[in-house]
Amino acid sequence: MMYTPTQLQAIATLAARRAGEHVLANLHRRGDVNSILRTDIKHKLDVEAQEVATSVILSAFPDHAILGEETCDAPLPESDTVWIIDPIDGTINFFHGLPLWCCSVAVQYKEKTIAGAVFIPEMHQLYEATCDGPALCNGAPIHVSNTDQLDLAMLATGADKWDLGAHSFKFMRRVSEIAQRPRILGAAAVDMCLVAAGRLDGYFESGIYLWDVAAASLIVERAGGRCEALKTYDGYRMAYLATNSHLYDACRDALLPLL
Ligand code: IPD
Repeated sequence: MMYTPTQLQAIATLAARRAGEHVLANLHRRGDVNSILRTDIKHKLDVEAQEVATSVILSAFPDHAILGEETCDAPLPESDTVWIIDPIDGTINFFHGLPLWCCSVAVQYKEKTIAGAVFIPEMHQLYEATCDGPALCNGAPIHVSNTDQLDLAMLATGADKWDLGAHSFKFMRRVSEIAQRPRILGAAAVDMCLVAAGRLDGYFESGIYLWDVAAASLIVERAGGRCEALKTYDGYRMAYLATNSHLYDACRDALLPLL
């Protein structure tokens, strides 16, 4: 059975909200990790929040497939409809007590994202979009910025968690050279929602994952921006660019030769 984007959106929003509320109710467990490395943390609340979101989705759509960050190595069941969950994007921010983390849920039909929700619990912000409606923040329409000069733009970027050496710094340096100011906030979906809301002009990261950007990319596009994987790698990893409509070509031309 086919569902409308609005029906799917309602469940994406509920799943992101419930996941975020579970984490919020457990803030006293910020230190409760399964493993901790220099560049990555596997948090128990990541696993639990994904289970919460999964149960919301499967209660509504038992036949749909789910790709979640915490179970990304498991084979995906056959389905035209795939839900993509990042239970906590910005896990390291969360662990250290920074409020810039979020729960992200997207739904794709035949590989096209048709609905998405990003809930930023500690900032009290819920971003949503469907493929046929406006991007919203807390129910109000949002729009990307009008900045049309790259050297007057504020661009967010991030460090590829598998390479904190020359590879990552090559891109950070380029972003710093082309932008008015670079920013590293530590949660890709938050960065992209800020692009959608016109508070940042663009976002680029050389190694990011599908679950980090799936929902937020639809939100940016429906807010009038542009998003694209500049390069794809194995394991759902990619170099990703999201900007307002004016800056996209200039950013891509500046970054693509480095990939
Ligand atoms: C991470 C965040 C971070 C980005 C990393 C991502 P996670 O996601 O989005 O901003 O720099 O590349 O992996 O692991 O916290 O879901």
